[in-house]
Amino acid sequence: MQIILRQFGDCNIRRAEPSDLIPVMEINLKTLPEHYSDYFYESLLAEIPEAFIIAEIGEKHVGYIMCKTEYGFSNFKKLGFVKKGHVVSIAVLDEYRKKGIGKALVEESVNGVKLKNCDEFYLEVRCSNNDAVRLYEKLGFMIRQQLNAYYRDGEDAYLMAIELN
Ligand code: COA
Repeated sequence: MQIILRQFGDCNIRRAEPSDLIPVMEINLKTLPEHYSDYFYESLLAEIPEAFIIAEIGEKHVGYIMCKTEYGFSNFKKLGFVKKGHVVSIAVLDEYRKKGIGKALVEESVNGVKLKNCDEFYLEVRCSNNDAVRLYEKLGFMIRQQLNAYYRDGEDAYLMAIELN
């Protein structure tokens, strides 16, 4: 059964299912230079379906966010060891951007990682990706670190994070 999280206009935001993975991979191929194996998508869906979310208009997949969880040092507290949600990838097809879909995907993934009792949520974003950095800042994420040459092409990333409790 499909779990619809929210609807606005003609757009449904819902949890992904195995049959959504091929369309998600197609959006990823069209929108981002970082790609993953089929197995990786499947494993994220199995690990944390609460934060693997898609946006759909009619029958068309227009966006997705997928996350994982991990334990590690806090991005906020000195010496704190915490459970963290981690955005692996988010994208909205070009022609459907600036309608609030990206914001809805991030907000619902925040709810998803909270259900997994994560203390913090973080992501990496290209320093040049102003649209994404602005979106995350509006949602309360803060730049906590600059990661030198994080991407294969040598570009730096910002590590942005939010405390959930
Ligand atoms: N009318 C006009 N503008 C609107 C709007 C509406 N109804 N609803 C939202 N917006 C604006 C928001 O205020 C925001 O404006 P700002 O950039 O000035 O702050 C902007 O649209 C984007 O917000 P939103 O619509 O929620 O995000 P999006 O659906 O455009 O998706 C990304 C944002 C980053 C996911 C999208 O640009 C993308 O897929 N980029 C390529 C992949 C990528 O870079 N992923 C991130 C890797 S870390």
